[in-house]
Amino acid sequence: MIDIRLSDNLELMAEIEDNTVDLIYCDILYGTGRKFKDYQDLKPKREIIEEHYIPRIKEMHRVLKDNGSIYLQMDTRINHWIRCIMDDIFGYDKFLNEISWCYTGASNNKKTYPKKHDVILFYGYKLIEPQRIPYKSGIHNKGNYFKKKGGKNECRVNELEDIGKIVEDWWIDIYPINPASKERNYDTKKPKALIERIIKASSNEGDLVADFYAGSFTTAEVCKDLKRNFIGCDINPNCLEKAKVRGLFSFTDEHTKVD
Ligand SMILES: C[S@@+](CC[C@H](N)C(=O)[O-])C[C@H]1O[C@@H](n2cnc3c(N)ncnc32)[C@H](O)[C@@H]1O
Repeated sequence: MIDIRLSDNLELMAEIEDNTVDLIYCDILYGTGRKFKDYQDLKPKREIIEEHYIPRIKEMHRVLKDNGSIYLQMDTRINHWIRCIMDDIFGYDKFLNEISWCYTGASNNKKTYPKKHDVILFYGYKLIEPQRIPYKSGIHNKGNYFKKKGGKNECRVNELEDIGKIVEDWWIDIYPINPASKERNYDTKKPKALIERIIKASSNEGDLVADFYAGSFTTAEVCKDLKRNFIGCDINPNCLEKAKVRGLFSFTDEHTKVD
């Protein structure tokens, strides 16, 4: 089931029963105050951010299963406020990671270090399937694998090279979509590889995954590829066109509800 809606996320979440969603991934409004081509972002004012997010994060908490996980993506403008809201609603004991998704790019900023990472707050349940990436000498530390243990060292190093390094909480191997490319047909569209990593790590086939700030419905396409069910929405009517380009309508005819 791929259920795509054009709606305010508060309205969609109100329709979802308690304790039903296995995984929530949302690339939320970052509080830049910018008018993007595709949508207007919130201003980076604490009252505005709290007014928007507190009711929505309460709803996310209600619909998420007790053993479910939630990932919220933003950047450093508002992550400290969102983290306090998440702690209040989900509980500090449910905080698992603050992942840094790092990239590089042109910048004329000489006043500060150019800001080149997003923050992904991960709360909820432990990883279901820790992901691995190719081990790269000079980037990754071998850690325990490096210690000599009764002559078994060589075998353990080979194992690391064969099966890869468990992904840590800093991601430098996934590139953002080039703003000038054809693929970037929606402002702030995220690469599929980023969402694939999260969905593989924190859900099983057949699980229900939700994205309540879906934009061009990248998460829905990844769910289709990985055989997860999807429910999600965006408030911007142009997003349905983007979902169509991804071929999600032919896939979802029966399930797509356009309000
Ligand atoms: C950062 S973008 C998401 C981009 C998306 N990850 C992608 O790959 O295309 C945030 C989205 O949230 C949507 N949005 C803002 N307020 C919303 C609301 N109240 N309900 C639903 N969607 C909302 C915006 O229209 C925008 O498309």
